[in-house]
Amino acid sequence: MPCEFYIRDVRWSPGDRERDAASPLLKDVTLDVATGEFVGLIGPNGSGKTSLLRCGFRYAKPHAGQTTLDSTDIWSKPPRWSARHIAVLLQELPEDFGLTVEQVVKIGRTPHKRLLDADTHQDAAIVARALDDVGMRQASDRMFLTLSGGEKQRVLLARALAQQPDVLMLDEPTSFLDLQHQVELMRLIRQLRVTTLASIHDLNLAAAYCDRLHVIANGAIVASGTPETVLTADLLRRVFQVETIVDTHPVTLRPRITLIHPE
Ligand SMILES: Nc1ncnc2c1ncn2[C@@H]1O[C@H](COP(=O)(O)OP(=O)(O)OP(=O)(O)O)[C@@H](O)[C@H]1O
Ligand SMILES: [Mg+2]
Repeated sequence: MPCEFYIRDVRWSPGDRERDAASPLLKDVTLDVATGEFVGLIGPNGSGKTSLLRCGFRYAKPHAGQTTLDSTDIWSKPPRWSARHIAVLLQELPEDFGLTVEQVVKIGRTPHKRLLDADTHQDAAIVARALDDVGMRQASDRMFLTLSGGEKQRVLLARALAQQPDVLMLDEPTSFLDLQHQVELMRLIRQLRVTTLASIHDLNLAAAYCDRLHVIANGAIVASGTPETVLTADLLRRVFQVETIVDTHPVTLRPRITLIHPE
């Protein structure tokens, strides 16, 4: 199903909303992800990326504003509706799984089934395909807990893919991955053409793979657009307080950011 994702004028603070009314953590954030687009959310530590993603997938309820999928407000629907449409990969890895890799990925099928529905051949095929996509099929029978950090992250991405979502929300999906798997994950997401919003710290990866970027600083969106328009040395200085050289990558023709290391 094609899916356009909107976060509109979202205001949110943790805890007591009255206390933070004057200066909320998320300050009237508006952003969009067009159907099939891969959009990156970039910004410094503590700028509000995870908080914004949480407001986007029906975990944290905004104090004001809306999150809509194809014009439907996600808070007007039951949690199961969101689970059927939006899959998330969080920054924190769950540690309490006494399950095999295959069983973890199978959890992704749950929103599409009724309570006592048996697993079908189709479910098994979707789970196997998702494990293939992330290169973890050979580990199907391993205990999830015994995997490395990067392997766990890939299995949790497989779980999100097995959900067959209309929207993928990923919080730093490449953070535990080696170079090969960073590139493969970004390529996979781009090829899937699922409407995707992902927070990404590696600006060169974001530049190379994302269709568009939203930049967040102090809980407010400060720039939105293609990597070429957004990633300038001036913006990086203002938002990240670093000096950089931004030129064009000779192969991808996307912006290439080189950090000027201070003495
Ligand atoms: N439930 C909470 N209670 C108190 N403070 C919170 C809560 N959630 C977020 N914060 C604070 O809000 C700010 C934004 O946090 P958030 O996790 O959204 O940042 P982020 O952009 O994802 O950062 P990072 O790049 O480090 O992951 C931080 O200063 C954080 O400490
Ligand atoms: Mg975060």
